Order: sequence, then C-alpha cells, then structure tokens
Amino acid sequence: MSIPHTTTSADVSSEAARRRTFAVISHPDAGKSTLTEALALHAHAIAQAGAVHGKGSRRGVVSDWNEMEQARGISITAAALQFTVGDVVLNLLDTPGHADFSEDTYRVLSAVDCAVMLLDSAKGLEPQTLKLFEACRARATPVITVINKWDRPGREPLELLDEISDRLGIHPTPLNWPVGIAGDFRGVTDPDTGGMTEFNRTPGGATIAVGQALDADEAARRHGQDWQRAAEEFELLAASGHEHDQEGFLAARTTPVLFGAAVLNFGVAELLRAVIELAPPPSAWTDVERQPRPVDAPFSGFVFKVQTGMDPAHRDRLAFMRVCSGRFERGAVLTNARTKRPFQTKYAQSVFGRERETIDEAYPGDVVGLVNAHALLVGDTLYDSRPVRYPGLPRFTPEHFAVFRPRDAGRGKQFRRGIELLDQEGIVQVLVSDRRGVQAPVLAAVGPMQFEVAAHRLEQEFGAPASQESLQYGVARRVAPEARAVVNRQRGAEVLERTDGVAVALFNDKWRMRTIASDLPAGSLPPMFGED
Ligand code: G4P
Repeated sequence: MSIPHTTTSADVSSEAARRRTFAVISHPDAGKSTLTEALALHAHAIAQAGAVHGKGSRRGVVSDWNEMEQARGISITAAALQFTVGDVVLNLLDTPGHADFSEDTYRVLSAVDCAVMLLDSAKGLEPQTLKLFEACRARATPVITVINKWDRPGREPLELLDEISDRLGIHPTPLNWPVGIAGDFRGVTDPDTGGMTEFNRTPGGATIAVGQALDADEAARRHGQDWQRAAEEFELLAASGHEHDQEGFLAARTTPVLFGAAVLNFGVAELLRAVIELAPPPSAWTDVERQPRPVDAPFSGFVFKVQTGMDPAHRDRLAFMRVCSGRFERGAVLTNARTKRPFQTKYAQSVFGRERETIDEAYPGDVVGLVNAHALLVGDTLYDSRPVRYPGLPRFTPEHFAVFRPRDAGRGKQFRRGIELLDQEGIVQVLVSDRRGVQAPVLAAVGPMQFEVAAHRLEQEFGAPASQESLQYGVARRVAPEARAVVNRQRGAEVLERTDGVAVALFNDKWRMRTIASDLPAGSLPPMFGED
C-alpha cells in the first residue's frame, strides 16, 4: 500500500519545471572532474573546491570510491550530485570517462535531459567525445558545448567550431566569444551588455573566481585589438547564422558553445546560466506503447543503473532510478512493471560517490538510489498507482570476448553467482551455450577493461578468482532462428545465447561474417547496437 499524500499535479508540474538534469560528456583529461567540482562550488554545494573529486593534493572525496578507480584515476562508476541555484534544482549525473565503459555512460545519458560536451581547446574532438556524442544523438538529447582549458595555448576558436560542425553534423552557435587567443586569454564577450567578462586568475582555483564585467569602452581600452577582433568575429558569426536558436538546440540540431577554463573557475557561471536558462526541464517520457506519460501523472521511475559493492563493508546493491512522473515518497511500495512484484522504498538515498543521504521525496528529473535493490535490473520501470512500462535500454555491440572459468573448482557456486550479478549490473554481457557449459561462460565486452573489472570483482567480492581465455572473435551479430544451426557449423563462427535470450553469432572478423552472410537469406544476421 502506498502512502497517501496531498501533492497535487500542479505541485509536481512546478517542481519538474524547476529541475535540470544533465551530464557532462568528455574524453578523459578534458577536465570533467574539474568542471563538476567547479559547478558544485559555484552552486555552493560544497565549501571548497576539491571536495568532489580529489586529484593531487586536493582533498579526495566521492566519485573515487572504487579501489580500481582510485588506482587508475579514472571514473568508472556513475553517481548523481544535486544542487540548487536560486530556485532551480540541478541534477548532475556523473558519467564514466573511459571508452571501455561507454555502454555504462549510455545508460546514464538515457536518464538526462541535456548533456554538456566538454572539449579540450588544444585537442578538439577526441574519440571518446565522438562516441558519447553519438549516444546523445541517438536519443536526440540537446547538447551544450564547453571549450575548456582556454588559459593554455590551444586551437583557433573558428577552427574548433568548424570541426564541431563537420565531424558531428551539429550547428555550433557560440553564446560568447573568447577575447585573446588560447594561452593569452583575456576573457569572453558578454552579449547581454555588449562588453566583456574579464578573465582573472585565481591562484589554485580553490575559490570562486568572479570575472570582472567591463563595458565596451573599458574592454576596448584595456584589451585593444584583442577586444576589437573578438567583437567583430562574434558579430560576423551571428550575422552568418550562428546565433543561438532555442528550437534548434532542443531538437539537437544546434549546440550552444561556451569558452572557459574550469580549473580557474572561469566560464563556469556562464555554463550554469546556460543550463538553467536553456536546458529543458523534465518532460513526458514515452512508454512501450509509445504513449507519453506527463510529468504530473502518478509516480513512475526508470532504473538506468545498478551497482553492487559500493560499500565494501556490505555487499549491497544499489539501483539508480530517475523519477519520470509524479512525486516519489520514501516508504511507498511500488510495483516493478517487469515482474509485477512490489518493491519497498524504505531505503532511498541520494548518492554521490561515497556520500549518501536519505532522500524522503523526489520529483521528475531527480535520481534516487534504492538500496538493497536485488530485484531490480537496468531498464526496469517502477510505478505507484497507475501502471506504465518504459522501453528498456539497448545493449551495445560487444567487440571483445573471453571465456571465464573458476580457478578453484570448489568455488563454482560463488563464480556462477558473481557472473550472474555482473551480468545484471551490465558490467559485461554473458553468453552461454550447451557446448561450453555454465562453468565456462563467454563474457562479452565493448572494451577489454570491462574484463579487468569483472575479474577483480569476482575475486574480491565473491572469492572466486577466475582464469580468462581470450577468444579470437571480433564481430558480433544477432542471428535469426533459422540461421543458427548453419552459422554454428561454420569455421570462424559460433552461436551463443545471451542471458536475455538473444541469439548472438560471433565471427573472427567482418570478412568472415560477410562470407557466411552471403550464403544466408538477407537479414539473417541483423546488426546489434552501437557500433553498427
Ligand atoms: P577528467 O575528469 O576529464 O579526466 O579531467 P580532470 O578534471 O581530472 O582534468 C584533467 C587535467 O586537466 C587536470 O590536470 C586538471 O587540473 C586539468 N584541467 C582541467 N581544466 C583545466 C583548465 O581549464 N585549464 C588547464 N590549464 N588545465 C585544466 P592534472 O595535472 O591531471 O591534475 P591536477 O593535479 O592538476 O589536478
């Protein structure tokens, strides 16, 4: 039975309208952690920079909870940070930086309404940025672009805009323009005042840097030619169709562009403003029947991520749920749309890395961490009074395959349990066949680091060290039922079954796959998802 409450749909609508749920996508080292920290700092969520993600001498906190993550200095898990600016509630979802975890990132991106694409001014678009941008494109998620590290020598801003438009096919519309070249950065133009915001270095970047506002005369006096050039270029860009276009942005055809230096907190206030003023608030989610469910409909939520072992002391399992409609109230008993079974929400938390706080209520756009969520899987829908089911998430096409076996035959049960949980969490995909048996499943991954995580966790969490044998397959396709047996007889190919029941054919390489496909009826080997 759910707890009755008196929230009206007007309350829920206005709560939804003041929320912005977004994630930062970038290539490792572009400055995502620094930017996250700077955003939180600006929002006064934390008193001193360094509290979110510690590197170097700064105080280490939260995203770094995982041992492997710390050892490697990469973020391989996702968490959500909530902060308030004025009347607006911002939910910033953390995305893993490493390319091997792009599937994980895709799941996080399924739960946001907007993405911030962060580029390094010297490097422009890097491989991981491209991949993550594609994930945004697949869902038509609006993207705000931030060109970071402008305090260092980098590339020409016009060249960077060209790269965005040529390689991503999205039209860049700068919201401001850098004064001075990268490396000799003077500030950014301020279209609202017709002047500029001057860039001041704050030593250490540990305090909020407030750029000084200069009017046009003052800007001309202090920055002479640099200012003239920036003002002219910005005007020319606006005249040649590069002005911000809200409709185009919401439809993911254009991307507003900002320039800054996250480590010095410069440009961060402008980004916050862009997120608040331009990013869309939560809106109706489309269910499996293709019906939109308005934000003020009775409660529903979508599980986009499941994580076990976040707290090494207890082997807990946490499901991250985005609220899609209605008001979430801790203690309510919800229904899992997949199993139709009840789910207790007594232990609901907001989670950012190790920091957890009990959450009592949440509104559309918010992320709730559900503790002890053993019955929940990625892609599950939970609802309160009016049933709904949202479409699940596609699995990426794996490119790496390895047979895992328990090293210690006596730990077979723990091994199987571990594999099952890693599968449910989506750490790896698990493929089985009668021929190979359950003690020798084939693990399939988008990137090989997923195997490392799987092996590490099997040993640490389940006490089941495993051996790995890489398989010489590089291409995976779905396989139509009538083609299964034929494909399975071929050299350089093998058919297995994924745990969700999808038959997957593996091939040595794409030439082998094409040769085999040419002897089969058209459509026998449909592509999976992601790379195709
Ligand atoms: P990531 O999460 O995207 O991987 O990047 P992260 O924030 O860790 O930043 C990567 C490096 O880039 C860090 O340097 C960080 O200080 C630096 N950085 C971030 N933003 C800027 C910027 O606007 N300008 C300049 N010049 N550097 C920036 P590091 O040497 O790896 O670490 P640290 O010891 O300096 O923290």
